[in-house]
Amino acid sequence: MRLLGVAASALLLGTATTNGAELPGQQDSGKEINGPCAACHGDQGQGGKRGEYPRLAGQRAAYLEDSLKKFRTRERLNLPMLPYTQERELSDTDIKLVSAYLAGITLQTTFPDFKDTDDALTRLEAMEKVMIIPKLEGDLDNGKTIYEKECADCHGKTGKGTWRYPMLVGQYTNYLQRQMDAYLRGERAHDMDADEADEVEKLKAKPIEVGVLGRLTKKDIDDILAYITRLQD
Ligand code: HEC
Ligand code: HEC
Repeated sequence: MRLLGVAASALLLGTATTNGAELPGQQDSGKEINGPCAACHGDQGQGGKRGEYPRLAGQRAAYLEDSLKKFRTRERLNLPMLPYTQERELSDTDIKLVSAYLAGITLQTTFPDFKDTDDALTRLEAMEKVMIIPKLEGDLDNGKTIYEKECADCHGKTGKGTWRYPMLVGQYTNYLQRQMDAYLRGERAHDMDADEADEVEKLKAKPIEVGVLGRLTKKDIDDILAYITRLQD
């Protein structure tokens, strides 16, 4: 699946350029496009305001692309971002470039060792690349069991995501919680293809798109969130 994704992105990128070659200075233009985004999501894509603005750094490129397109069509409603995602502001090529740029940023989960000679700017920039999510208490065994059984197939055993399924580890817990609430209220569609016929009965009361989340208790969800905070490197 992953290989297919790579081939598909190569194709798309190919159609965006006339000769099918890689765009020159791809890294730079991704960074440029990210300029207005950084006002909310941070210079390093680290997000901000305790998860009001999610982390984008290290997120899967295919997922970032998907999300930006869903914001544009309002399939996923995001009012603060709507003006930034319109075609004239952000073309399909820009979406590819900025997504690849953000996906390529690695944030550390340990503080850097500074040398006495490092100046303030060097220190500030290095600190922007550190992101540690506070560890939550909970029934970690329960969280792990459910996560591995119900979530890991798509979100990856270590929470880093797979294919177009988003990375969850290293993301603000507040933000993850808010998204799960949105899924449960039917405001955002979750895993569309996860529901087997025999689960339909249990899901009757909820929109079908909520998928696996609709089968979990509040405590299970809290335990999963706690477990995810333990998956950081
Ligand atoms: C005015 C503030 C603002 C600006 C500017 C902004 N965003 Fe956002 N963005 C948000 C908010 C708020 C959310 C979370 C919405 C929610 O809670 O569902 C978000 C969510 C996202 C998500 C979804 C992340 C996820 O894990 O699902 C992506 C991707 C994203 N933004 C990319 C961008 C890019 C790329 C730009 C620049 C082109 C940008 N944003 C500019 C406020 C902003
Ligand atoms: C069949 C695949 C699949 C399974 C299984 C699955 N998810 Fe997801 N998940 C997705 C997809 C696809 C998205 C992105 C949906 C979208 O585009 O808006 C997502 C998004 C999310 C998000 C929002 C991430 C963000 O950055 O906005 C959270 C939180 C989440 N899933 C939690 C879970 C949990 C917890 C489980 C297990 C109980 C789980 N998912 C199981 C496919 C899956």
